[in-house]
Amino acid sequence: MIDFKNEIAKIITASVNINIDEIESYIEIPKDKEMGDYAFPCFKLAKNLKKAPQVIAEEIKNSIDIQNTNIEQVIVSGGYINFIVSKEVMIKTVLEEINEKGDKFGHNEKGKGKTVIVEYSSPNIAKPFHIGHLRTTLIGRALYNMYKAQGYNTISINHLGDYGTQFGKLIEGYKRWGQEYNIYENPIEELTKIYIRINNLCKEDENVLNMCRENFKKLEQGEKYCVELWKKFREVSLKEFYRIYDLLGIKFDSLNGEAFYSDKTDEVISILDKTGKLIESDGAKIIDLEEQNMPPCIICKSNGSTIYATRDLAAILYRARTYDFDKCIYVVAYEQNLHFKQIFEVAKLLGISQKSLQGLEHVAYGMVHLKEGKMSTREGNIIKVEDLLKESIARVEKVIEEKDNELTEEEKQDTAKKVGIGAIIFNDLSGNRIKDEIFDWDVMLNFSGETGPYVQYTYVRAKSVLNKVLYTPELEKVNINNLQKKEEIEIIKLLYSYESTINQAIRKK
Ligand code: ARG
Repeated sequence: MIDFKNEIAKIITASVNINIDEIESYIEIPKDKEMGDYAFPCFKLAKNLKKAPQVIAEEIKNSIDIQNTNIEQVIVSGGYINFIVSKEVMIKTVLEEINEKGDKFGHNEKGKGKTVIVEYSSPNIAKPFHIGHLRTTLIGRALYNMYKAQGYNTISINHLGDYGTQFGKLIEGYKRWGQEYNIYENPIEELTKIYIRINNLCKEDENVLNMCRENFKKLEQGEKYCVELWKKFREVSLKEFYRIYDLLGIKFDSLNGEAFYSDKTDEVISILDKTGKLIESDGAKIIDLEEQNMPPCIICKSNGSTIYATRDLAAILYRARTYDFDKCIYVVAYEQNLHFKQIFEVAKLLGISQKSLQGLEHVAYGMVHLKEGKMSTREGNIIKVEDLLKESIARVEKVIEEKDNELTEEEKQDTAKKVGIGAIIFNDLSGNRIKDEIFDWDVMLNFSGETGPYVQYTYVRAKSVLNKVLYTPELEKVNINNLQKKEEIEIIKLLYSYESTINQAIRKK
């Protein structure tokens, strides 16, 4: 496609003698469509040129030459120079590109030869998959898709929370009362009940707590009974998670979670030890981060066991070696901001390449609260993603039932599923990433206005128009003059900007 922005930058550079990349980075698309297709804000140059933006704008306008370019008109408005591109050329270039690339329209090879890891979802096994996890899952998958569209070698990782002292407790609870619970039917619900029960007992009885700790130690040492149980918990949990992933169309290249790194933390400790920065503090081993204005990063607790952060460090080392990544993105709630700042700082001591080190990035997102406050597994006030999806599908089913009697039962169900799930995905991704959200069924399941169902409706309508035409005209035969109405140009412009929108979404996240 013709790159209008770049063309404009070239025209401007010829008259102001400033680096073309810099000029290009200033060019914007005006919010007010009447102002033109592109605008160059001259106040960006005002300081250097020591002139008022309006004066600069006039001077540039008078000195540039748009003959033999795709720019039709240049208008100065305040401190801006507005550019209007030839609509005919724009329509042509978009249609040609679509014709050539088909489904790959908007894709490019910018990321060729580079590797990006996107880590998302990462729920804790034996715990409910709640609406907080929905955000990381959907944002992460969207990022994955966008990087892929830019030609990056893209790897998706679900860093499962499948390790830690809580499994010592769960094993103890299961050992005591496992028979009473049917963990095959409703695994997570039942395991959560066991967890809450044993946790309460631990609070009352120090001995029980010690037994739990003992179980975890045995698990770490590979004792058969504990390992078998842990495997069972993981397996039944994953089965339940995959019901949701399948509904949402989510996939992962790797499920290497915390447990995978349990035998890889020793190396981290020894590397850190050699740097001389690993110090003793109250029996624990820590990296002091006072200089960076952060609390210390605990690497090894006083009882010798490693923690969440140690396993994350082992993961960084492993991923750097295995994938030699250019970027490793963590889509995790902002609640863990400090954690990631700490481990990214400590990662500097691991001896991995500068490239990988600089590619570590935490993409945070806002929390989902209930009107009553925070969600908590223990309080039992969790909104489960599966319930949300089911409710959404059921509401769509009702609408179909009321409006349409022509569909077969199977078609109804299929449509309800697509529309219901689409609504949830669109709603989640169209919101502000970082802002906290108060969960509201009616907002989540609002189907009118700018929503998933509306997008799907438009798509279906467009397809049906195409079906009526019965054939797609050859590009040369399209009469571009018939596409010059305001609405049509708007759509063409949107299509034109699709690729750069993906690019921007990746850069700004
Ligand atoms: N399992 C964690 C949780 O649910 C999230 C893991 C995030 N990823 C990571 N590499 N620490 O809170």
